[in-house]
Amino acid sequence: MDFTLSEEQLMIRQAARDFSRNELLPGVIERDEAQKFPKAQIKKMGEMGFMGMMVDPIYGGSGLDTISYAIAMEEFSKVDSSASVVVSVNNSLVCWGVETFGNEAQKEKYLKRLATGEIIGAFCLSEPEAGSDATSQRTTAIDKGNHYVLNGTKNWITNGNTAEVYLVIAQTDKEKGHKGINALIVEKGMEGFEIGPKENKLGIRGSDTHSLIFNDVIVPKENRIGEDGFGFKFAMKTLAGGRIGIAAQALGIASGAYELALKYSKERKAFGTEISNHQAIAFKLADMHTQIEAARHLVYKAAWDKDQGNNYDLSGAMAKLYASQVAMETAVEAVQIHGGNGFVKDYHVERLMRDAKITQIYEGTSEIQKIVISRDILRD
Ligand code: CAA
Repeated sequence: MDFTLSEEQLMIRQAARDFSRNELLPGVIERDEAQKFPKAQIKKMGEMGFMGMMVDPIYGGSGLDTISYAIAMEEFSKVDSSASVVVSVNNSLVCWGVETFGNEAQKEKYLKRLATGEIIGAFCLSEPEAGSDATSQRTTAIDKGNHYVLNGTKNWITNGNTAEVYLVIAQTDKEKGHKGINALIVEKGMEGFEIGPKENKLGIRGSDTHSLIFNDVIVPKENRIGEDGFGFKFAMKTLAGGRIGIAAQALGIASGAYELALKYSKERKAFGTEISNHQAIAFKLADMHTQIEAARHLVYKAAWDKDQGNNYDLSGAMAKLYASQVAMETAVEAVQIHGGNGFVKDYHVERLMRDAKITQIYEGTSEIQKIVISRDILRD
């Protein structure tokens, strides 16, 4: 067992840390307030190779391992989770899904532009009445020979308006249940494809979340990913990796909140000394540090499993479940340590607290992670 990061992983960490400080931190409060998508920042991340980190260089990616990706996600999320969720969805749901299950023509047409960040993608599974219960897809993709006709509504879609390419999960044959679901690549601008209103969110307010409406959209058969009926498995397999990205995001939020609280506790004085000298604060910091380290081990282990070709359904679910809980608890305590200042936007921790909540909800709620974990440990 070797817990040492490689030279390359350390370099990625430094590059992501520098980028976060120099490019994400300036204006992060204003973007959150104005719900402004970090367009210029995402463009630069693409130029630096962060939008297709694990994609093979022959398709324009950086060819890095999942641990490097998790490390970069952690660094970005310490500062700006509105930007890091774009990185996560593009890398682990869209690029990974197309690279792993798409055919050569789809990779040529879509993956190269997605991996370089020239365009970004969205992953469209959730519906007004199919969130956790993902097999109950009401969006239909009716088979018409050489194309599908797509109808329905998707909800809470990250990159809803900024994406150019959408991976849409839809029911083709209701009789077959989840085995009758397909995953289709839909392009922005296809006739009958409308972007619905933008959501006004508690956290990750700079990210662009919309509903999507499909009205008789004609999607060529060549845009289907995998065999007929592979769509639900495609979604599950892709989400299993996505959960590692969100776990790393949660880890970053926790680390960011902790680092701010640690610094503040050494500066702020009360009762004649820095508040870090009071055990009430020092013990909070000790708990935060310990829990963050435990979360980091779970996240890196899940990433390592993926890199080794091991099954990572269980380790990814455990990483997401625990890291998102640590993100929430740490951010709340970081606000507490900052006292009145913690309630004020300038000190960043209130934003981290608001951003933390979504990590317990998207890409499978904590309850869904417990279903995945309990089914795994109870399996014969
Ligand atoms: N890998 C491969 N196949 C899988 C799988 C996996 N990880 N998980 C399930 N499957 C397969 C099962 O084997 C089964 O296939 P067979 O019948 O051939 O064996 C099929 O999928 C159906 O599985 P279940 O019977 O377990 O289905 P279920 O209805 O009990 O639900 C669930 C399973 C785990 C609860 C699933 O519905 C789920 O993960 N729900 C949460 C959905 C989710 O994460 N949504 C997030 C939205 S995306 C998002 O947030 C992105 C964003 O923008 C940030």
